Amino acid sequence: MKILKPDDFTIARLGKAEFISPLKDNVFIPENQNVCYSFHSEPLQKELQEFGKFLSFEKAGPRERIFHDPAKSKAAILTAGGLCPGLNDVIKGLVSTLMEIYDVPEVIGIKYGYRGLNPAFGLEPVRLDPEIVDDIHNSGGTILGSSRGNQDIGIMVDTLQKLCVNMLFCIGGDGTLKGAHAIAQEAMKRKLNLSVIGIPKTIDNDISYMHRTFGVETAIYATHPIITCAHNEAKGAYNGVGLIHVMGRDSGFIAALASLANSVVNYCLIPEVPFKLDGPNGLLESLHRRLAAKQHVVIMVAEGAGQDLFKNAPVQMDASGNVKKNNIGEYLRDRIIAYGKEKKFDVSMKYFDPSYVIRSVDARGTDAVYCLLFSQSAVHAAMLGCTDMVVGYWGTDFTHVPIALAVSERKKIDPSMTLWQSVLQITGQPEFK
Ligand code: F6P
Repeated sequence: MKILKPDDFTIARLGKAEFISPLKDNVFIPENQNVCYSFHSEPLQKELQEFGKFLSFEKAGPRERIFHDPAKSKAAILTAGGLCPGLNDVIKGLVSTLMEIYDVPEVIGIKYGYRGLNPAFGLEPVRLDPEIVDDIHNSGGTILGSSRGNQDIGIMVDTLQKLCVNMLFCIGGDGTLKGAHAIAQEAMKRKLNLSVIGIPKTIDNDISYMHRTFGVETAIYATHPIITCAHNEAKGAYNGVGLIHVMGRDSGFIAALASLANSVVNYCLIPEVPFKLDGPNGLLESLHRRLAAKQHVVIMVAEGAGQDLFKNAPVQMDASGNVKKNNIGEYLRDRIIAYGKEKKFDVSMKYFDPSYVIRSVDARGTDAVYCLLFSQSAVHAAMLGCTDMVVGYWGTDFTHVPIALAVSERKKIDPSMTLWQSVLQITGQPEFK
């Protein structure tokens, strides 16, 4: 865990906010209204002793005075990385807040993530306006297209300069935010008045210093019927095994939350908690006992779980620089079938891999609301002249988080905390020690 200092929470600003905000009758956020990082008395007291103040995030929201002149502004929006429910909601929220609330005359969409900022790909930006984005929130995916991987920073900043863009909104996860950080740094080095603002997208919920990214809630919602089907299949066969493999590269939030939301799961396996397969305390023997008692079982496994079981497997990376995981779902499927044969008991394996299905759907319910609120906070922050930051959500407030802080470590499930302890309680699974 990173040792934090007050400076880690400082948001870079392009200059003094001198323009009067065009927002009428709004409740403006006073400049000194911050959101405490710690919630409990002990760390709060320690912070006070050590720093003379609490560690805190800037609170997001509209300010009375802003840095950019909206009438002379031009905003660009891009989506990068894997898909996530709510991308179109965020695009729509950004466009409507920029053009209808702040009267920004021009907003453009950059095609296919950072590729669209590299002229070598020949991807021209597209014009966006409230009419164009009117009903895009009803579709999953992104109207702008996305891509993984970064491009040359100098070339991307040259393109932004040529386009006369003074606000860049980067909607993406860890890799996208790292790219946004590099663009913001280069723009500051060139003394450009460019606000670079991230909006945190990922169904994995693995971005630090924020409680939840957008898209997570919908992804959990999308796993619900799949878990029900796996349960039906498992119960419909003698010794039925409903095995579900979901995304979750290094963090098991999807698997854990989905197991709580549809609590028919008997074993939940996540990257943060190693498990043994063999031996009296291993998963296979435990499964055998469970089938003997109940004749069915539902197993949820996250993509990054049990990677230590793949000895000598070659390490492969994706374009974002993430280590590609070995397929633990298929591995477990085959091992469970083989174990049944070896021990001479029936196993009726039903394997589910919803894969991209849970992230390419449109955002639902309060997740869609969350997307809109994220986008409004992002525009307010850009107008204020903030840069090199990502919007976060902490406790009950939207916040400004320096990108360097947000990407300094991956957010993971702490097995000693309530979330994982609740999973253990509801599944009744052993700890495989
Ligand atoms: O968005 C993150 C994620 O859902 C990871 O859990 C998963 O490893 C990755 O996307 C897969 O995405 P792609 O196939 O697009 O690289």
